[in-house]
Amino acid sequence: MNILMIGSGGREHALIKKLLESPKCTKLYCAPGNGGISKDAEIVNISVMDKEKMVEFAKENAIDLVFVAPDDPLADGMVDAFEEAGIRAFGPNKKAAVIEASKVFSKDLMKKYNIPTASYETFDNSKDAVEFIEKNNTYPIVVKADGLALGKGVIIAKDFEEAREAVTSIMEDKKFGESGNHIVVEEFLTGPEVSVLAFTDGKCVKPMVSSKDHKRAYDNDEGLNTGGMGTVSPNPYYTEKIAKVCMDTIFAPTINAMNKEGRPFKGCLYFGLMITPSGPKVIEYNARFGDPEAQVVLPRLDTDLVDICEAVIDEKLSDLEIKWKDGAAACVVIASGGYPVAYEKGKEISGLDENGQLDGVIVYHAGTKLENGKFLTNGGRVLGVTSVAENLDKALEKAYNAVSKIKFDDMHFRTDIGRTK
Ligand code: AMP
Ligand code: GLY
Repeated sequence: MNILMIGSGGREHALIKKLLESPKCTKLYCAPGNGGISKDAEIVNISVMDKEKMVEFAKENAIDLVFVAPDDPLADGMVDAFEEAGIRAFGPNKKAAVIEASKVFSKDLMKKYNIPTASYETFDNSKDAVEFIEKNNTYPIVVKADGLALGKGVIIAKDFEEAREAVTSIMEDKKFGESGNHIVVEEFLTGPEVSVLAFTDGKCVKPMVSSKDHKRAYDNDEGLNTGGMGTVSPNPYYTEKIAKVCMDTIFAPTINAMNKEGRPFKGCLYFGLMITPSGPKVIEYNARFGDPEAQVVLPRLDTDLVDICEAVIDEKLSDLEIKWKDGAAACVVIASGGYPVAYEKGKEISGLDENGQLDGVIVYHAGTKLENGKFLTNGGRVLGVTSVAENLDKALEKAYNAVSKIKFDDMHFRTDIGRTK
């Protein structure tokens, strides 16, 4: 099969390495990819948002399967564009991707179908939002931009002043652009966070092994929220008992709810959960694989990913048994100093072999480019160093040992992945 991956980060590199294990995959393209990905797939220079050019490329190159990995093209209808052209694509269509693209939609969905989540109100003007916050008078309180905001549209305000500033920056100053036309103001929840990605064909839902993301930039969960600084799988807080509660109260009800709304979801649905004292609750849905969750979940997958994609597209997922490796995986993200705010690019990376890899681990490239045979930094998150072992301690030891061999100017990574709540 000729396969086209759409996207350019560490998640896409993890998907590509898994697809390459499939005997069905004969030719793999990635648009637009990155330096490290160019060692595993043929790079295609098309922007992730350019539906017309993507479809044209797929037709010209007899693509049998497209994998749309990032949120923006999914929300914009990339899968619909391929379906209209008669090309098979993995991922939700535009109507279903709204579960991530609009927090107002997802909160209202959960309320309507009794899916546990933080209590909330939605607003379309800042005056009403600020009045509500003042009257509610409980802190911290959480203010969220409605739309996609690169994972940064959530502000946890510790007092009234911070909450008012958050509302103003999102709704008046349009810090996240049109994403801030509506906001959600919600109750602050506490407890360990768990990421559960699930394959679903709209009828049946098959959760993958659990994982835990570390979203803050610095050790001890300090600093700003990032796209994710590292992950482990399984998540130590996700017991079998909690998994059962999640299936009964969250996973299956969400799939049913989307069907009832006329928006059947096909693809990978990401459940961002918090295990609160009163049980698991949904913090957010994503309409795609998480990044860097994919980097620890996929190395543990034993079933052919191409078979899974086909089963999802053909709505035959219930017939397929999905197998996972025991043990654990850990991914430590190496970022450019200054990420997620301002950082420099173009620094030479040392310690990698000519394929951008290192013995004993898998190095997923997130933001690199290849110039004259050298890997250079080209983004905020640069590499995801991943290791699979019989337990979490060993996986972390191997990953950190490999990280110590990689160097570039001003590099930054957390030293406590897998060690915090
Ligand atoms: P989100 O983009 O919705 O995943 O939010 C980013 C992060 O903000 C989450 O991973 C949580 O750590 C935190 N967060 C979001 N909503 C809440 C909430 N209601 N209570 C506590 N923390 C939250
Ligand atoms: N790691 C969180 C996300 O992909 O949204």
